[in-house]
Amino acid sequence: MNKEKLIELALKARDEATYTPYSHFNVGCAVEMEDGSVYSGGNIEISSYSPTNCAERTAIFKAVSEGKREIKKIAVVGDNEDTFPCGVCRQVIREFSKDPEIIIANSTTDYKVFTMEEILPHSFGPEDLLGEK
Ligand code: THU
Repeated sequence: MNKEKLIELALKARDEATYTPYSHFNVGCAVEMEDGSVYSGGNIEISSYSPTNCAERTAIFKAVSEGKREIKKIAVVGDNEDTFPCGVCRQVIREFSKDPEIIIANSTTDYKVFTMEEILPHSFGPEDLLGEK
């Protein structure tokens, strides 16, 4: 799927799939997995705050719970300009991809693409524990 189409799905998730009664800050995410399947989701807030789930994790966990393991592209759109994944989500993205295209979008015509190394340098990942290094 091209980047613009993935961004459209992230925008739709931001506008239709969030539950944000506390911050009212809406984030949408869409992930394309290695087999071409696509999952999207929004942030979900909980009144005791800490169980809150970011949009990135909602989308990624939907994919993983359907048996998908490798992210090819991920698009993130927030209510502010250039909403980047939080630190926790960067680590979750890292778990399920070595080098995904990370698309930080404001619209289908205004976006930037980053690598994992750019947003989470010198990362710790599955290979460190699984003896693949
Ligand atoms: N949030 C995300 O969904 N993704 C991010 O990358 C940054 C933050 C959410 C969590 C919370 O619901 C709201 O934005 C404010 O922090």
